[in-house]
Amino acid sequence: MTSRILSTSPLVGRSLQELGQRFPELTVAPFRSIAWKAGLATAEALVVMLSEPLTEADLQLAPMLKVIGTYSVGMNHLPLAACKARGIRIVNTPEVLTDATADLALGMLLGLTRRLADGEALARSGAWKGWAPDQVLGTSLAGRTCGIMGSGPIGRAFARRVSALGMVPVFWARADLAPVEYGTGTAPRLPLSDLLPQCAVLSLHCPLTAETRGLLSRETLQRLPAGAFLVNTARGGILDEDAAIQMLHQGRLGGVALDVYEGEPSINPAWFTAPRTLLLPHLGSATQETRAAMAQLLCDGIGATLEGKLG
Ligand code: DGY
Repeated sequence: MTSRILSTSPLVGRSLQELGQRFPELTVAPFRSIAWKAGLATAEALVVMLSEPLTEADLQLAPMLKVIGTYSVGMNHLPLAACKARGIRIVNTPEVLTDATADLALGMLLGLTRRLADGEALARSGAWKGWAPDQVLGTSLAGRTCGIMGSGPIGRAFARRVSALGMVPVFWARADLAPVEYGTGTAPRLPLSDLLPQCAVLSLHCPLTAETRGLLSRETLQRLPAGAFLVNTARGGILDEDAAIQMLHQGRLGGVALDVYEGEPSINPAWFTAPRTLLLPHLGSATQETRAAMAQLLCDGIGATLEGKLG
């Protein structure tokens, strides 16, 4: 069977079905299954998930390929240079997942600093004896500095949220030192070496690139003040996880909340026994509305490319 569009998932919502009505040669097959590999030979469009790393070798098996749609804003799992060399368009899902991801990061920050999991465990245990002055005490955030790595839409949306808590957002400066307008205020940018010592909280919102891979190394993490909290909804590869786990055991870090992991879906088992952690299975964009909007954006981009409307 000819597969003009090859997707590894039916996505959320109706947009892939609608695309299939316009382009009936649409196949949904699991990543790297026999059907998927066979489909590469005729595919003009591929749809992949962020957990499905495409390789240059895959592209060589897809001589007709015009467009790759990834059901994510992140593109670190795609062979970008090879796509550029072949003129293969990439469609990702920016903007539509900004609020969902920033909301989740905020929820993780509050969950971690107010120890929601500990409180819930106590409430469900049947052993709660009633209110007590020193019970499940967390950490207040108002007036404290929140370092934000990444000044794109998600980093700025997160800045709006933490400033509503009374925190002071400060962005990581890569090359540009100009202050960041984040919608409800303006925040300075600082080089990492100046930013980290000020952070009560550090939240990651930058893509995984050659520049950011391993950026939060053992040495860099030591610049955070004792008791700082770390939230990662970006990509696991930015953080030295072993170093962060060690710093939790030493009491150097106040807590770590993770939605993403190096090598996910496998999670370093040392996280499961590390103290003061909140661990989620990559749920940044996981709302019905967001996933449907992401699917729509992808399908629109793929349809327009195949119809020659985007070149
Ligand atoms: C993405 O789309 O890249 C995000 O990681 C979703 O949470």
